[in-house]
Amino acid sequence: KRVLSVASECVPLVKTGGLADVVGALPAALAAQGWQMRVLIPAYRPLRAQIADWPEVFAEEDLFGGRGAVKAGDVAGVPMLLLDAPHLYDREGGPYNSGGVDWPDNPQRFAALSWIAARIAREGLADGWRPQVLHAHDWQAGYAPTYLAFGGPRDVATVMTIHNIAFQGWADAPMLGTLRLPAHEFHPASLEYYGGLSSLKAGLVTADKITTVSPSYAAELMRPEFGMGLEGVIAARAADVQGILNGVDEGVWSPEAEAVPYTSRRMKGKAANRAALCEEFGLDVPGPLAIVVSRMTDQKGIDLLPQVLPDFIAGGGGLAILGSGDPALESAMLDLVRRYPGRVALRLGYDEALSHRMFAGGDAVLVPSRFEPCGLTQLYGLRYGTVPVVAAVGGLADTVIHANPAALAADVATGITFHPTDAPAFAQALRQLLALHAQPAVWARLVRHAMAQPVGWEGSAAAYAQLYDGILR
Ligand code: ADP
Ligand code: GLC
Repeated sequence: KRVLSVASECVPLVKTGGLADVVGALPAALAAQGWQMRVLIPAYRPLRAQIADWPEVFAEEDLFGGRGAVKAGDVAGVPMLLLDAPHLYDREGGPYNSGGVDWPDNPQRFAALSWIAARIAREGLADGWRPQVLHAHDWQAGYAPTYLAFGGPRDVATVMTIHNIAFQGWADAPMLGTLRLPAHEFHPASLEYYGGLSSLKAGLVTADKITTVSPSYAAELMRPEFGMGLEGVIAARAADVQGILNGVDEGVWSPEAEAVPYTSRRMKGKAANRAALCEEFGLDVPGPLAIVVSRMTDQKGIDLLPQVLPDFIAGGGGLAILGSGDPALESAMLDLVRRYPGRVALRLGYDEALSHRMFAGGDAVLVPSRFEPCGLTQLYGLRYGTVPVVAAVGGLADTVIHANPAALAADVATGITFHPTDAPAFAQALRQLLALHAQPAVWARLVRHAMAQPVGWEGSAAAYAQLYDGILR
């Protein structure tokens, strides 16, 4: 059984967020379920050298203004398809923007990716491979199910997965023709979206099934507070919507694979990792050492830290931050470092290896998101016994069991959750963190339960496999 997965990023080739982790992990997870998955992404500039020798398996001479060629090769065991279209992707800058400004031709860039995906679904590759299911991720792949649906009778089933509804693939209405979309579909029940076009909406109205990355987010998306304009579209398809939690790669994210290995039964190593981390960051923290590893955007609630930190620091806590993004948030974090030397430390930038050391050495991971489709860092926290302190939204609410008195008494708590995402609730959660950490026996049980919680792909891979099986044509 064969599935074509279409996305804009995939580890280890290109990553800006959790989308890449998930797209990169699904093929192995699905292979265990009897599904062969190939992943199609654009050949951005840094990837072009790597694919020079790969065989060409599909091509289109005029792909939105230039030639597009699909090349096939394996990367870290994952069968990849890279769409090489220099006029669209061979540029200096990130996948979506350069210097913080979106590429003006993003609609065409990702419509091209989707167009090629739909053609592959219909015609197959030169090596004879053709999928039975086309799985599109986020707005960048939204037109893939659309082109397939509007291109005549089809035998390939389609799934649209929402990783983050904040990005909707907007284009102005006059782009309809440029994007090779049928004019008669420009109406509210189909392609029209607030007077223009949204590739995500297009995917949501044309795919056979819709998924998102946690059950709670699936429900939240049908409400105006979280749906960001698409709540009605999603609610109208409620019968076809399913939330399937992300997993983490337990080989890559394992306390047994860190500098000083540890397990839930032998926690000595964690203390050594903590000491090393404090040394590396120049921290001296008597109470719980919290960490934050995050994109710095409004979504992540990072702006609440300056309000809640003074009390946490006064109570003995400390904080190590790794992230980058919004310049205003970055400078707010720098201010905290200046105010609390030895208690708050910051690394600006993206550093995968450092993030591992932080999870291995931290006592708690803070995830105060305003919305969180799934979230991966709280899952790393569980696995590493780095107690998650999270806003009770989306996937965070679905993966962390709050240490309320009943859960503590029943011995099932795995972390601390708070609601709503505001400073008073967050501050209260941090007070509870200080209190729990001060009771060694209670804390040890919390850590042990966190580490015992399954966070791998097994269950979710089975859910995807079942979904694919159910829509085969
Ligand atoms: P999102 O995709 O919304 O950013 P997720 O929690 O799903 O949120 O995924 C974020 C991923 O990016 C995680 O793997 C996290 O560890 C990683 N990450 C985020 N910021 C950094 C950073 N500055 N350095 C290293 N890894 C980071
Ligand atoms: C998005 C979401 C995040 C999710 C990730 C992978 O980036 O913000 O919550 O974990 O996609 O699905």
